[in-house]
Amino acid sequence: MSFVVAIDGPAAAGKGTVSKAVAAHFGFAHLDTGLLYRVVGRVALEKVGPALDEAAVIALSTKVSEADLARDDLRTAAVAQAASKVAVIPEVRTALVEFQRKFAARAGGAVLDGRDIGTVICPNADVKLFVTASAEVRAQRRYQELADRGENTDFETVLEDVKARDARDSDRTVAPLSAASDAIRIDTSEMSIKDAIAAAIAAVDSKHG
Ligand code: DC
Repeated sequence: MSFVVAIDGPAAAGKGTVSKAVAAHFGFAHLDTGLLYRVVGRVALEKVGPALDEAAVIALSTKVSEADLARDDLRTAAVAQAASKVAVIPEVRTALVEFQRKFAARAGGAVLDGRDIGTVICPNADVKLFVTASAEVRAQRRYQELADRGENTDFETVLEDVKARDARDSDRTVAPLSAASDAIRIDTSEMSIKDAIAAAIAAVDSKHG
């Protein structure tokens, strides 16, 4: 039987870590749906160039496969921005719907994390969480992550990037970032990751008897 946990929220709120922990705890499969947009963004930067010509990007988005998600070049700041840009194109979103719904329907349970999982991709999910944090806290975490990886950047630039991505993800007309009305909100601004995971597991536990 399928059991779907939808976890949405802005960039760097901790939803990836929470999603992985929930999936591991319950033995569910996990899909980071941001990777789908990152693959399209990455390939578009390589093949189409930074102008991201719309028709070419749409054609690329129809070809994303599970193997692409394992690419090791999807986590850079440039790819994050490109992902956020291609994610605004309605045809790109439509091309990626089936992949996500198929994943959600797999037997044994699935956790999908992204921006529109509880609202558009899986509106009937068994549990919906909205994991968020202030822009400053998220930028600080992302800055640390990039610095640990040796990327040359500064906090102000990362904060600007986070805010630009928030604006683009929230203001787009198709499937904008927003909490489903029945989502449980977890604000991780002043929470340890351990507490955030515990809150998420408790929320899923209450529905997964
Ligand atoms: O979660 P992430 O940072 O890897 O996502 C990268 C971009 O992809 C994000 O800025 C917006 C887009 N995205 C989306 O529009 N819908 C999703 N379900 C997941 C990501």
